[in-house]
This record gives sequence, structure tokens and C-alpha cells, in this order.
Amino acid sequence: MHFLKVVVALLLPQLGLGLATPKSGNETAGHIPGTSSHHAKVRGHTYHYLLAEPTSAQKGTIILLHGIPDLSYGWRYQIPPLAELGYRVIAPDMLGYAGTDSPCSVTHWARKELAADMADLIGQLVPKGEQVIVGGHDWGAGLTYKIALWHPDLVKAFFTISIPYVPLWLGPTKEWVDMLDLVQNGTFPTMGYQIQFREEATERNLTNLAQIRSFLNGVYGGSTSDGRGAFSPENGVDFDILDQLGPSPLVSSADIDYYAKRLHINGMRGPFNWYRTRRMDWEDELPFLKNGSIKYKMPVLFMPATKQPDTMPPNIWTDMGDYFESLKIQELDSNHFAHWEAADKVNEALAAWLPTV
Ligand SMILES: *[C@@H]1O[C@H](CO)[C@@H](O)[C@H](O)[C@H]1NC(C)=O
Ligand SMILES: *[C@@H]1O[C@H](CO)[C@@H](O)[C@H](O)[C@H]1NC(C)=O
Ligand SMILES: *[C@@H]1O[C@H](CO)[C@@H](O)[C@H](O)[C@H]1NC(C)=O
Ligand SMILES: *[C@@H]1O[C@H](CO)[C@@H](O)[C@H](O)[C@H]1NC(C)=O
Repeated sequence: MHFLKVVVALLLPQLGLGLATPKSGNETAGHIPGTSSHHAKVRGHTYHYLLAEPTSAQKGTIILLHGIPDLSYGWRYQIPPLAELGYRVIAPDMLGYAGTDSPCSVTHWARKELAADMADLIGQLVPKGEQVIVGGHDWGAGLTYKIALWHPDLVKAFFTISIPYVPLWLGPTKEWVDMLDLVQNGTFPTMGYQIQFREEATERNLTNLAQIRSFLNGVYGGSTSDGRGAFSPENGVDFDILDQLGPSPLVSSADIDYYAKRLHINGMRGPFNWYRTRRMDWEDELPFLKNGSIKYKMPVLFMPATKQPDTMPPNIWTDMGDYFESLKIQELDSNHFAHWEAADKVNEALAAWLPTV
């Protein structure tokens, strides 16, 4: 298949040119109007989440899942408009991040476990019998596909941003294959960063606040005076140039300060644990292949970020329709962090799609 040759870079920042101007100023850093902050005990872990109540008659509940390196605050441009449309919105800090626990054992990050956490949280916050709409970006999108797999009865519909459903990458697959082999044999060369991120040596380079801040600035698109970025999908982060980068064109300095402070609470081990469960997930998901390949029954909206031509070519998602009964694709003219860079387009696409599900 042609797409196997191309790179899929995901779950990760694509550095790119022509990013949008930062939208939030100092006053707003860390707070999303109309949201309140809460904690819930979920299967032995404390989860922090943001909650927004609808400002008009309630149409349902939307749960928003962020990726790496992001936070519940990553949904700052989506939560107010969704509440205004009449949805109750719940956005957790995912396991390992900020106000949510980061337990010792990596087994808690197996996608079956994380999906069970989200099912438990939904059970606590939503009346019994009500189905929710789940939305995710980056690893949050990866988990969204898994919640719909393990707990289809809870999910009325779902949407994902930037990350297509590619079974060889996200599973389930019949044969075990390590990501390192897929990178080295040329199937997913741009997933090399995943190999760096799963190494423990990487989080040891990111222990203090200043290191985390410059890592975030690099991942969010800061570049050197001669235009070099610190992140490449093939190799991951170049730690040697992080201190030479100008400010991110995508996220304001005040917002990066907030992100760094929040991510420093638990450090980067938890966020990087999302790359360390591939083998566990493969074993957990084998039974789903007993009935043939999987097919999602609920309505799904996928929003690819198309300014990632080298890493995320359109043909990588052309096969996606095989796995869904009702798939709508809405392309976004954006880099990886499309929920920020193309916030208005994301919100327009949701406003058009939500009434149809
Ligand atoms: C943010 O704070 C800096 C320093 O306090 C100030 O110079 C700048 O104008 C502020 N920016 C906004 C958008 O408020
Ligand atoms: C790389 O390995 C995967 C998994 O074994 C296999 O499906 C794929 O065909 C291989 N690709 C190449 C180019 O060898
Ligand atoms: C840690 O940072 C140093 C430079 O500060 C770099 O040489 C090294 O490769 C980094 N380690 C990893 C695992 O990336
Ligand atoms: C496979 O199909 C059977 C019969 O429809 C169903 O009971 C079972 O739950 C399915 N298994 C999985 C893992 O989807």
C-alpha cells in the first residue's frame, strides 16, 4: 500500500511555517471563561477536569481528550463555543498530566485501562443511559478510537483531530510488531520521535521548569534565527538547540509559562508513558480481531491537519472509510495543533456536524 511508504507523524507536533498569531494574552493564561475546575476519584486515580455548563438548552455532553504535550486547557478555543451551542463540556487532564495523578506503573496507561478510566468518569458525571460525544486531539484522538472500541455503548458519536485511524499503527493487528521495526523498515520513518520519547533518558533531560518550558516552546514551533526547529518527526527533539529558539508563533509566552508550570507538577514520565504500552495494547486488543476487522458503528468526524504534507499525506486516511459505517472527513488547512491554529474552522465543522449525530 502506498501510504505505508509515507510518513505518518503523529501524536506529535509538526513544526511548520505560517502559524497563527497567539490568541490569548497574559490575563487569560490558564483560565477558560465559563469553566470550573473539579477532581474525581477514578479507579484509584485522582483526575482533574474542567467542566462547562451549556449556556442554552442542553443538547448533550461532550468529553474532550487532549494529547501530548497538552492539557485540558488545550481546549480553550473549543469549550466556550461548544457550551454556547448547548453542550455540557468535560475536559480532563489525562493520566500523567498536571492535576491528574501519574501512578508508578506504566500498566495504568494501557489503552484498555485509560478507556476504562474515561468510562468511569463518564459514569460519574453523566446520567445513567445517556450517551456522550467524545472528541480527541493527538494521543487524545488515539484514545478516542479506543473508548469507542471498548465502550461503544457509552459513545453516541466521536470526532478526532490530526490523527487518522491507521490499524498498523494504532491497532488492533494480528501480528505483534514493534514501532522500532516499523520506523527502521521504512513503513513509518517519521515516527522515529516515538522511539526517542519512549526512552527513559529523554524524560531525564526534562526535569526542571526551565527545561520543560524550552521543550514546549520547541514543540510548539519556536525556531532559531536561521529557521531551524527543534523537533523532527524522524529524530524527535534536538536538545542541543532548545536554548537557541525564539518564541513559539502559536502559543503565547504567558500560556507557555502556564503549560510549563502545570507539566512540571508530574514531570514528563507520565506523558511519555503514552508511548510505552504498545505491546500491552496489542495483547489486550487481539480478541477484537476474532470477528474480522473492526468497524465502528457510531457517526465519526475526522479532521486531518493538511499542512503536514510530508508526514501526513492525504492517502494515509483514504482507507479509513473501511473501518467506519458513518465517517465524515473535514480537512483543516493547519499544522498538527489544529485545535489552536485552525480553531475557528474546527468550531465551524463541529457546529455543522453535531446536529447530525
Ligand atoms: C503580557 O505581559 C507583559 C509583561 O508583563 C506585557 O509587556 C505585555 O503587554 C502583556 N501582554 C498582554 C497581551 O497582555
Ligand atoms: C515492515 O514491517 C511491517 C510489519 O512486519 C510489514 O507489514 C511491512 O510490510 C514491512 N515493510 C517493509 C517495507 O518491509
Ligand atoms: C539530553 O540532552 C543532551 C544535551 O543537553 C543531548 O546530547 C542528549 O542526546 C539528550 N538525551 C536524549 C535521550 O535525547
Ligand atoms: C464477536 O461477535 C460476537 C457475536 O456477535 C459478540 O458476542 C462478541 O462480543 C464479539 N466480540 C468482540 C470482541 O467484539
